Amino acid sequence: MAPRPFEGERSRLRAREESDVDVFYRWINDWQTVKFLGQRYPRSMTFERQWMLGTESRYGEAQFMIETLDERRAIGWLGLHAATGEDRSATLGIAIGESDFLDGGYGSDAMRTACRVAFDVMNLHRVDLTVFDWNERAIRVYEKVGFQREGVLRDAIYKAGRWNNLVHMSILEGELR
Ligand SMILES: CC(C)(COP(=O)(O)OP(=O)(O)OC[C@H]1O[C@@H](n2cnc3c(N)ncnc32)[C@H](O)[C@@H]1OP(=O)(O)O)[C@@H](O)C(=O)NCCC(=O)NCCS
Repeated sequence: MAPRPFEGERSRLRAREESDVDVFYRWINDWQTVKFLGQRYPRSMTFERQWMLGTESRYGEAQFMIETLDERRAIGWLGLHAATGEDRSATLGIAIGESDFLDGGYGSDAMRTACRVAFDVMNLHRVDLTVFDWNERAIRVYEKVGFQREGVLRDAIYKAGRWNNLVHMSILEGELR
């Protein structure tokens, strides 16, 4: 049987529904999640709703909820952004917003699924991302999946009173582990 492209071993990438706005609002205003991201300011429910409705998943902006396979519980989100047909490249962002599900293998599983979607569904050649150099858990996951470090953007993000270096990473088709 052909593999299900949006399903991993313990999680699935599914489309976002309008009813997901409540959980998004909670995650995106939770410092335990937001401290790892580029975002700085609190987000309103109105902003979240408009953003969700205005960014329906499509080739250039493929946005997903991450849900558990067994209970179909929404635990985070993942996006492949700014894909172009010429370069066949996109930028990935991921967060597990439900703290009970951190360190449970869901992020690695969803990253592998996202790369398969990038290469086998979107026909991309390259996926890149940036990550704070102190986010060792995320870097471990990205390297485990097959991403390589390309360089460091020094003092790229000023947030919560300190400068942060960003590590730039990428994976090319054929490099997924
Ligand atoms: C990054 C993230 C997606 C990873 O997903 P996850 O489900 O928590 O991670 P997994 O359980 O799949 O894997 C975690 C790995 O990191 C390792 N790890 C955990 N904490 C670590 C640390 N402080 N330093 C180094 N490695 C660490 C674990 O041992 C595991 O590796 P292993 O499988 O070889 O044992 C998730 O933690 C998350 O969303 N974090 C908050 C938001 C965020 O950082 N987003 C990314 C922004 S670029």
